[in-house]
Amino acid sequence: MADFSVREAREDDCDEIVRLMQGFATHEGNLHLLKTNVKTLKRDGFGEKKVFDCFVAEETQSTGRSRLVGYLMYMWSFTTLTGRFLYVEDLFVERDFRRKGVGSALWASAMKLALSWGCGYMQWMAKRGNTSGINFYKHLGAVETNTDNFMTFTLDEDAMTLACSKIVSE
Ligand SMILES: CC(C)(COP(=O)(O)OP(=O)(O)OC[C@H]1O[C@@H](n2cnc3c(N)ncnc32)[C@H](O)[C@@H]1OP(=O)(O)O)[C@@H](O)C(=O)NCCC(=O)NCCS
Repeated sequence: MADFSVREAREDDCDEIVRLMQGFATHEGNLHLLKTNVKTLKRDGFGEKKVFDCFVAEETQSTGRSRLVGYLMYMWSFTTLTGRFLYVEDLFVERDFRRKGVGSALWASAMKLALSWGCGYMQWMAKRGNTSGINFYKHLGAVETNTDNFMTFTLDEDAMTLACSKIVSE
């Protein structure tokens, strides 16, 4: 096991979390799309109308210094059929710390929280072809949800602005 501990993220972790997010976005091939920065992270994770929570894995160094080596970002969600559930947005562990139980420890914190709140399930998305991620989830016992009957819709900023202007002027 690596020398690390998992705890809830604090506002002063945001610089480090953004660094890890950049690593995750690079891994996913999305770095050019990453808009989140320290300012938006502080607003959306620690501000008055926060929308996400986060666990971080912190390396414990003999010098007493510490640095973050992984994070799991989640948000609460709700479905009328079964009630509250926990949605995981990001899970990332720095390359040098992989296969040392860090991802499992982060996930365990989220599972314990979900269970303590009576969540019926946890949910997340994984990119097809992300073998390490998929193997990790299979190791946990997760099952792929068949979404053949459902479509995911997205309305981007330009489309929202246009749709709003049409509806207001109608
Ligand atoms: C997926 C990820 C978070 C796993 O973190 P980790 O700290 O390496 O995971 P753990 O050490 O807790 O692994 C637990 C088990 O998962 C499985 N597993 C994890 N990574 C694996 C890999 N690359 N290949 C095969 N099995 C793997 C193994 O069964 C492992 O147990 P073992 O090491 O005793 O065999 C990490 O590889 C990562 O950050 N990947 C890049 C980002 C990513 O893909 N995130 C998920 C997006 S959907």
